[in-house]
Amino acid sequence: MRHRIAVLFSGTGTNLAYLAEHAPRYGIEIAVAISNRPDAGGIAVAERFGIPVVVLASDQYTQREAFDRDLVQTLASWQVDLVVLAGFMRILTPVFTDTVRAINLHPSLLPRHKGLHAIRRSWEDGEPEGGVSVHWVTSELDGGAIILQKRLAKKGLDFATYDRTIRRIEKEALMEALCLVLDSKPCAEL
Ligand code: GRF
Repeated sequence: MRHRIAVLFSGTGTNLAYLAEHAPRYGIEIAVAISNRPDAGGIAVAERFGIPVVVLASDQYTQREAFDRDLVQTLASWQVDLVVLAGFMRILTPVFTDTVRAINLHPSLLPRHKGLHAIRRSWEDGEPEGGVSVHWVTSELDGGAIILQKRLAKKGLDFATYDRTIRRIEKEALMEALCLVLDSKPCAEL
């Protein structure tokens, strides 16, 4: 493998599963998966793919910086080229963002609909299209420079179809962003 990444998650881990399945084809290995929640469904996903999992329970910390320090220290021991936030539901402080090179996936056309419930809010915003974004992580929530976006026209869709399609294209967008960031080429050219 040419590249080692860490995937950080808090939830069901469907993006983690997609990367575990597709990234090796492009020379990318998931060296470690890190959850901030001991009950996250993604932990079983990582185990199924034989990916080492670390749980750092964020609810055990009273200070964001203290959690971020432990996160940075944990990451250091895995020696990864890039960190991927895939459904990692935490705001990170400069303790993390100043030292770690990380990208984040968000299910809206940023800068629209930062934060929670982005799929529902973008469905209801009256615009003809929504989409997904992959961007560099900074200490501003969903605020760093955009790496790529994919758009989805709403016409003819109901919410369930829109939601399902967004969750499909966000996985493709994340994979594509990884090829661009790690190899400066679209996946198709690797
Ligand atoms: C994704 O929709 C992601 O964009 C959002 O949280 C969700 C995580 O899904 N930030 P999963 O845990 O990868 O299934």
